[in-house]
Amino acid sequence: MSKGPLVFVMAAGLGTRMKSDTAKVLHKVAGRSMIGWVVTAARAAGAERVVAILGHQADAVKTALDASFGAGAVDIAIQAEQRGTGHAVQCALPAVAKEADDRIVVILTGDAPLLPTEKIAELVAACEASPAGMALLSTVPDRPMPYGRLVRDASGVLAKIVEHADATPAQRAIADTNAGFYAIRLGHLRKDLATLRADNAKGELYLTDLVAHAHARGGATAIDAAFRDVTGVNDRVDLAEVETAARKRINEAWMRAGVTMIDPASTYIDAEVGPLGQDVWLAAGVTLRGKTALAGGVRVETGCVLTEVQVAEAAYIKPYSILTESTIGARALIGPFTHCRPASRIDEDVHLGNFVETKKTHMMAGAKANHLAYLGDASVGHKANIGAGTITCNYDGVGKYQTTIEAGAFIGSDSQLVAPVTVGRDAYVGAGSTVTKDVPRGALALTRTKQVNVEGWADRFREAQAKRKKE
Ligand code: UD1
Ligand code: MG
Repeated sequence: MSKGPLVFVMAAGLGTRMKSDTAKVLHKVAGRSMIGWVVTAARAAGAERVVAILGHQADAVKTALDASFGAGAVDIAIQAEQRGTGHAVQCALPAVAKEADDRIVVILTGDAPLLPTEKIAELVAACEASPAGMALLSTVPDRPMPYGRLVRDASGVLAKIVEHADATPAQRAIADTNAGFYAIRLGHLRKDLATLRADNAKGELYLTDLVAHAHARGGATAIDAAFRDVTGVNDRVDLAEVETAARKRINEAWMRAGVTMIDPASTYIDAEVGPLGQDVWLAAGVTLRGKTALAGGVRVETGCVLTEVQVAEAAYIKPYSILTESTIGARALIGPFTHCRPASRIDEDVHLGNFVETKKTHMMAGAKANHLAYLGDASVGHKANIGAGTITCNYDGVGKYQTTIEAGAFIGSDSQLVAPVTVGRDAYVGAGSTVTKDVPRGALALTRTKQVNVEGWADRFREAQAKRKKE
């Protein structure tokens, strides 16, 4: 089998129109950076190596690539000064100095996140088949775009690309434009790049001038691509448009895999989310972020936001629950209005109800906290029951302390458990208690004051009030 292509991703430009402190290619589409989308597509197309050509904010982009794909997984070439796309590719050549001339190089741009993997594969196949050793994607934009125009010779062979800025009115009338993605044999790239000159309207080295060289070899192959698949992002209006398109693509793929969405248009699923099992059911207004995964039969109701959460089969997340960096066990019932903060480990058959907040807490199988509770730095044993209004006092302003509630324990309503503290197996804490000492197994802890009943007090009180009113 032949080796996969070498892929260059041009991403040195500034992106002025984004009006942002963040590098353009690091803006996110469905939770993944634009350059992350491009690199992901390149890898899915079998890229043997990916070289990102960086300039503006190169350090930040490199850090993000290392975080997403592993340190050094994407090679970096630096283009310190942006002198055009031809110059950008020249800057990447040293990175492939040891590669043979017949290797295929795919050149992509970092700000076109929707480019499908199949289009990269098509480019490679067309380049392999091309006697000129070059292929590119052409597109017919759905609105006027300042793209390079594809100029053909009398026999219809691609002769050259004329940049919008350099084009005559007649050339601007050409419908076929250059989408900006190429595949070319490395030998041709090396030779032809060396001939580029900046004698054009922009005073740049145009990569597109390589197409005229390919004409001398019989002409580069142009492959049609849908404009929506190749469109680049230049400002935040473009970014929002691409976001909508990406979301549609993601949602449709999940629906085809067996996920029901009541309202796909209001369902927000990040690119990194998955897997989502068969018969997952998502109500309107659900957001799934990061590496969230839902097993088969999980239902998520309106308004839930799950970030980096793993949910086991048939769990039911009721409306407006916010879950972050946590795991939810099989058949658990969560919400409405539950807040699981990071490191919440919720085992199977657990119930968490409205206004229950957990943080660094392990709820073991069958444990329940159905209403109004704060459980932080705690472990709650098998089938333990946490009454309404229970608070683990885990923080003294300096350190955090652990509360251990053993299996079968029953915490009465409105209790405070002042950590570090342990409530033993099957023990009871009477409602309204403030527990500061460990409770032994099977004991009852009661810290509230004893109740006093003053017989007849209310009647006497009312009589005295009535008398005072008359006076
Ligand atoms: C380029 C093409 C044009 C095509 C259009 C499609 C050239 C000369 N023209 O034009 O035919 O229709 O894309 O979008 O290539 N970049 C660098 N370093 C540079 C210059 C650019 O890394 O010195 C990067 C940019 O960050 C961007 C990409 O290359 O990701 C394209 O550059 P851009 O300036 O947008 O090229 P266009 O003028 O749009
Ligand atoms: Mg552009």
